[in-house]
Amino acid sequence: MGSKQRLLGHIADVAARSRRRTFVDAFSGSGCVAHHMKRLGYRVVTNDVLAFAYHWARAAVENSTVTMSAEDCAMLLAPNPAGGTFIGDTFAGLYFTDEENALLDAFSANVARLVDPYQQSIAYAAMTRACLKRRPRGVFTYVGMRYDDGRADLRTSLADHFRASVESWNAAVFDNGLRNEARLGSATALAIDEPSLVYVDPPYFSTRSDNDYTRRYHFLEGLVSYWRDLDLQPHTKTKKFANPHREFQSRAAAYASFEMLFERLREGGHDVLVSYSSNCLPSRDEMLAMLQARWAQVDVVSIDHVYSFGTHGHHVGNRNNRVEEYLFLGQIALS
Ligand SMILES: C[S@@+](CC[C@H](N)C(=O)[O-])C[C@H]1O[C@@H](n2cnc3c(N)ncnc32)[C@H](O)[C@@H]1O
Repeated sequence: MGSKQRLLGHIADVAARSRRRTFVDAFSGSGCVAHHMKRLGYRVVTNDVLAFAYHWARAAVENSTVTMSAEDCAMLLAPNPAGGTFIGDTFAGLYFTDEENALLDAFSANVARLVDPYQQSIAYAAMTRACLKRRPRGVFTYVGMRYDDGRADLRTSLADHFRASVESWNAAVFDNGLRNEARLGSATALAIDEPSLVYVDPPYFSTRSDNDYTRRYHFLEGLVSYWRDLDLQPHTKTKKFANPHREFQSRAAAYASFEMLFERLREGGHDVLVSYSSNCLPSRDEMLAMLQARWAQVDVVSIDHVYSFGTHGHHVGNRNNRVEEYLFLGQIALS
């Protein structure tokens, strides 16, 4: 959800107007923007509040050399009698088959056998992606398979999705000669060690849709820690955990979070690049005012963008989904 894959060229063009050569992707999500900027020769720092997104970025952005072999994959997918049964016990009949739940329980124990932290991140990145692809609509907000439309991804086993995802991650690994970093935490508390261009693409608040990434992806977030320190809510149908993150989640929190974030970035002397869509709050004019109050030069680039929902893109072209997509660039110094 919210991936900016289709806007990479626009983002890179606007970023190039800033003199900064360190690119901080403060809400990295899939990591596709950070990976693109790494490819373009920036030093890249990623950050996300969700641990599974952190692993995606650590596997493909911070990691420059490490890949995973077919033997490693086989080890991760093998039964492990010493593994737990938490997934089988907790999520039986909800998202995956009993065999797949057993595979996920064993996988969770097997990951600890990988000594290289980047291999562990590739393993988590590939398995969470496999779970997404195996799941109708790619979300964990409902239980059962009621949106099964027969597409090939849903006929492919979790193990096969995993092997294919490992190949994709292996192919994404490259060295751009710079020390890139992935971080886990809130963007509002992010410490940045040099003047940078900070890319801001938070979950925008909208009265029309919910922006709760944790609710959609709770199973993936639980999987990468085996639900350690998460407050599972056994009474919920989906067996989600209580979302500890409140920033950007409500109308009031959104305004306060932007003010806090922008204030910190301005104090740190950073340039800022903000992705924004017209159907969200704060409004376009409010966003502009917040930026103009802090940065000497603010440019607004409008991109005509049609959102696609779900994994099919079947909403593409539907006029109701037409939103204006903007990039705001705030620069500390006049260019
Ligand atoms: C719109 S998505 C980013 C999409 C990303 N640009 C991409 O192309 O894939 C927003 C991301 O912000 C993360 N997030 C939510 N609250 C956050 C916070 N306070 N600090 C950092 N990341 C946060 C979510 O987990 C989600 O991955």
